[in-house]
Amino acid sequence: MFVPVIMAGGSGTRLWPLSRGNYPKQFIPLCGDHSMLQQTLLRLNGLDHKPALVICNDDNRFLAAEQLRQLAKPSQVMLEPVGRNTAPAIALAALEAVAHYGEDTVLLVLAADHVIKNTDAFHKVIAAGEQLALQGKLVTFGIVPTHAETGYGYIRRGETVNSDHAYQVQAFVEKPDAATAQAYLESGQYYWNSGMFMFKAGRYLAELAVHRPDILAACQAAMAVKTTDLDFIRVGKAEFTACPDDSIDYAVMEKTADAVVLPLDAGWNDVGGFSALWDVASKNTEGNVLKGDVLVHQASNLYAHTEDKLVAVVGVSDLVVVNTKDAVLVAHKDKTQDVKKIVDQLKQAN
Ligand code: GDD
Ligand code: MG
Repeated sequence: MFVPVIMAGGSGTRLWPLSRGNYPKQFIPLCGDHSMLQQTLLRLNGLDHKPALVICNDDNRFLAAEQLRQLAKPSQVMLEPVGRNTAPAIALAALEAVAHYGEDTVLLVLAADHVIKNTDAFHKVIAAGEQLALQGKLVTFGIVPTHAETGYGYIRRGETVNSDHAYQVQAFVEKPDAATAQAYLESGQYYWNSGMFMFKAGRYLAELAVHRPDILAACQAAMAVKTTDLDFIRVGKAEFTACPDDSIDYAVMEKTADAVVLPLDAGWNDVGGFSALWDVASKNTEGNVLKGDVLVHQASNLYAHTEDKLVAVVGVSDLVVVNTKDAVLVAHKDKTQDVKKIVDQLKQAN
């Protein structure tokens, strides 16, 4: 039985102004009635697993606790005093899992903000992943790429591993430049990294000990002074603040020799920006996604969302229009990755 580890500490800046520092995208019900975090946990129903460990920023602790309480599924919340990216976050969770259940406990590491449409297909691949993880592999889940996305990791598949259609990872390249991504796409040899992983807790910590002993040492120091109460596991602030910042992709997955990839064909989408949100939403006959009080005339392929005022859109296409109480975004649907540049400007101004 694996332990789900749900990474919920990102800031989701490409979905500004819906996603905010005090209300990041994983806590928003972007697709359906439940938040992305809640959907991540509910998607595991039907799989045999231990209580989930949700790891997020201290600032979002009440949001996380309240959303998990609503699900009435046993889970625990670990709090990071500061964000240090995913390699340290997973290290904290792995140390916690080892303390409770031992080194051989399998972790299923999940992002808190993905859409996966086909739950049955997802469950089958997770079951296969658990077997490979028990054999000591670091399991990744590969998505067949459709375009030369530069915001993802790319996995080059090698020899097959077993009859579960798993492959050795020949190379793992995090966020290549556009030309490299295009070459990978054309080669037909690469998958996108879905950002979900499965491995024994002790195996991940052993990889960190080799590749990033500084991160492991800082996380061990932070866990040595942790406090646990009914609601939260809190790690040492000074110790964790001193931890270097890095993602699991750069810190471990690009370097390990023991990774395998299982292809995942389950309607995965990481909802990285408004165009991805448009992709997964149900649309009217003009291809418009309209949320709230929106009127349109001769406009198509819109993502339009308003929280208060009436919004009207006339004679334009492929736009994102988002109106919230204190900010309005108008963007071309092909440029929504650049919304984070506005957030950068806002941060500089403050
Ligand atoms: N607890 C915690 N702490 N969670 C974090 C932190 C942190 O400091 N930083 C990010 N997360 C969470 C995010 O909320 C998200 O659920 C997940 O970890 C992944 O982080 P992202 O910041 O969204 O990563 P990415 O999208 O740039 O890249 C990753 O995902 C891609 C697929 O969506 C990589 O794994 C890529 O290789 C992959 O293709
Ligand atoms: Mg992401």
